[in-house]
Amino acid sequence: MTHQIKVLGISGSLRSKSYNTMLLRHASKFLPDDFSFTLAEISNLPFYNEDLENNLPKSVTEFVELCHSADAVLISTPEYNGQIPGVLKNALDWISIALMKKPLALKPIAIMGASTGLVGTARAQTNLRNLLFALNMDPVNRPEVRLSQANLKFNEDGILIDDKDLQMLEQLITNFEAKVRKHLEENS
Ligand SMILES: Cc1cc2nc3c(=O)[nH]c(=O)nc-3n(C[C@H](O)[C@H](O)[C@H](O)COP(=O)(O)O)c2cc1C
Repeated sequence: MTHQIKVLGISGSLRSKSYNTMLLRHASKFLPDDFSFTLAEISNLPFYNEDLENNLPKSVTEFVELCHSADAVLISTPEYNGQIPGVLKNALDWISIALMKKPLALKPIAIMGASTGLVGTARAQTNLRNLLFALNMDPVNRPEVRLSQANLKFNEDGILIDDKDLQMLEQLITNFEAKVRKHLEENS
C-alpha cells in the first residue's frame, strides 16, 4: 500500500447537523485515493488555561498529537457575529503555545465556510486567515469557498447539491492537493 497523506479536518461547529461538518465531509470526497481524512474532535477540549499546562488533559494531548501527525489541514468555519466561533479559536489557541512545539507550522491548509446568511462567512474567513498567519501555516488562497444560505444547499442526506458551490469546492481541493504534494516533495 502506498504511503497515505494525512489530512486533518477541523469543523468550527459542534452542532450534530452542522453545515460546516457536512461541507468538510463533502470536501474530503474530492481528495485522491492516497490521501486519508480524519475529522478532529474539538468539543472535549477545555478552555485554554495556562494552569492546565502542568497536567495536560488527554483531550488536549490527543488533539495535539493528531496535529503533529497531519501532513495538511482542512478547516470549515461558521461565522458567529462576524468572527470564527470560540470553539475553533480555543482549539487553535491550544496548539499555538510553545509547549506544543508548533504542530501545524508551515503545513498546507485550505479553509472554507458555510453560513445561513448571505455573505457566507466572508468576515469569519478573513479572521481565520489572520490566525493562520499567527500559526505560520501555508494557506491556499483561491478559490474562496463561502457557502451562503447553507440551509438551501444540502439535501436531506447532507449532500451538497448546488452545482456552483460544488465546482468551487472541487477547485479548492484540487489546489490544496497540488500545494500538499509540492510541500511534501520539498520537505522529503
Ligand atoms: C451566535 C451566532 C452568531 C451568528 N452570527 C452570524 C454572522 O455573523 N454571520 C452569518 O452569516 N451567520 C451568523 N450566524 C448563523 C450561522 O452562520 C449559522 O447558524 C450556521 O449554520 C452555523 O454553522 P453550522 O451549521 O456549521 O453549525 C450566527 C449564529 C449564531 C448561533
